[in-house]
Parts: sequence; structure tokens; C-alpha cells
Amino acid sequence: MPTQLAPSILSADFARLADEAARVESVADLLHVDVMDNHFVPNLTLGPVVVESLRRATSLPLDLHLMIADPDRWAPEYVAYGATLVTFHVEAAMDPVQTARAIRSNGGKAGLAVKPGTALAPYLDILDEFDMVLVMTVEPGFGGQRFMAEMLPKIREARQAIANRDLSLWLEVDGGINADTAAQCAEAGADVFVAGSAVFDAADPAAAGAAIKAAADRAMAVA
Ligand code: DX5
Ligand code: ZN
Repeated sequence: MPTQLAPSILSADFARLADEAARVESVADLLHVDVMDNHFVPNLTLGPVVVESLRRATSLPLDLHLMIADPDRWAPEYVAYGATLVTFHVEAAMDPVQTARAIRSNGGKAGLAVKPGTALAPYLDILDEFDMVLVMTVEPGFGGQRFMAEMLPKIREARQAIANRDLSLWLEVDGGINADTAAQCAEAGADVFVAGSAVFDAADPAAAGAAIKAAADRAMAVA
């Protein structure tokens, strides 16, 4: 599958989100939106009101990453706010299968996210209920952290499971992604690359995003 770039607006200027989205529109495939609730992670960002405004402000599909408690209750309704993809953390979910089905029945794509300390093996059986799996390559909560190379085997494990069962899931990585680490993840089997600080802290975010995508494409062609 072709690689996809999902710039994360967590590193953008929150007072100018429409302009910031426009700066990456030419190079982004998805716009990654981090929803944090100060419970599941020690940081607070945005919720339904801002998602609805973003939906009107950009034509990019919204890739929602919910870092919230009780996603079973809150995740499905994000489709109505304008999300194309709704990814929630399995550590916070009581019934991930039921929640994925509710997202899908609302017309969205469902994603399953795992923190660095969470093994993927117990969830391989339910991957067919999802459209994407997100392997976190930092501890969720903040942008600008260092990529955890020890997550590469988990990315390989996910890719293997997808291939073995002939599933068509996207495999997303998030945290510390730049051109170098995107290439490592692509080689391990990732095909959706979230990048926050590497894109929005750059003088030219579109050029920085294009470089990340090109590096991932090259690594994938070789892999
Ligand atoms: C962190 C968020 C990420 C964050 C990544 O919990 O999920 O999406 O924006 O930021 P960088 O790319 O700077 O590591
Ligand atoms: Zn994220």
C-alpha cells in the first residue's frame, strides 16, 4: 500500500489551526488530530467543538487519535464531528470490538492504538474489526519526544499478522517520526507516518513533510 503522511497538529499553532492545516495540505494524506483528556494522559488538548471546526477548515481527512478514558462511550460520536478515522487506545477500552463496530456503523474507520508498554499479541485476533493499528513509538501525551527504536519489532509483528491473515489494515506509527525514523519504520512494515514537531517546527512544513514521505517511500521500495 502507498505510504501516507499524517502531520500532527499537536505541534501547530492552536490559535491558527486553519492556516496551519493549509500549510501541509499539499503534502499530507491525513491530518492527525490528538485528543487528550488529562486522564488517560497528563495533557489536555481539544474535543468535539474544535474537531467540527477543523472539519470545515480543511479538506484533508481527519485522523483522530483519542488519548482519552472511556473511549467506548466517546469514540463513536467523533465520526459525526467529522473524523474519517477514529483511533482509540486499547488500554482504556472495556470492549474494543464493540467500540470499533460502533465507529464503523457510524460510517467511520476504526483504529486500535497500543502504548509502548502494551503487547500487541493479545489483540491480533481482533484486528479484522479494525481499519488501522497504531503502534506508539513514544509514550503518548506530548510532541517532540525521542523515537523508541525498541518498538520496531512490534511494528514487524503487526505487519506479519496483517500479511498472515491477508488483512488490509493500515499500520500507523506515531512519536519521534522524522525522515530517518520514518525510513526505519517503513522498513519494518509501517505505512502511515504521523509527524508533529518534525513538520510544524520546520521553516517549511510542506517540504519537511515531503522529505519524510520520500524517505518512507524509498525504504518501503527496498523492504
Ligand atoms: C503524542 C501524539 C503525537 C505527537 C507526535 O502523544 O500522539 O501525535 O503529535 O509528535 P512528534 O512527531 O513531535 O513526536
Ligand atoms: Zn497522535
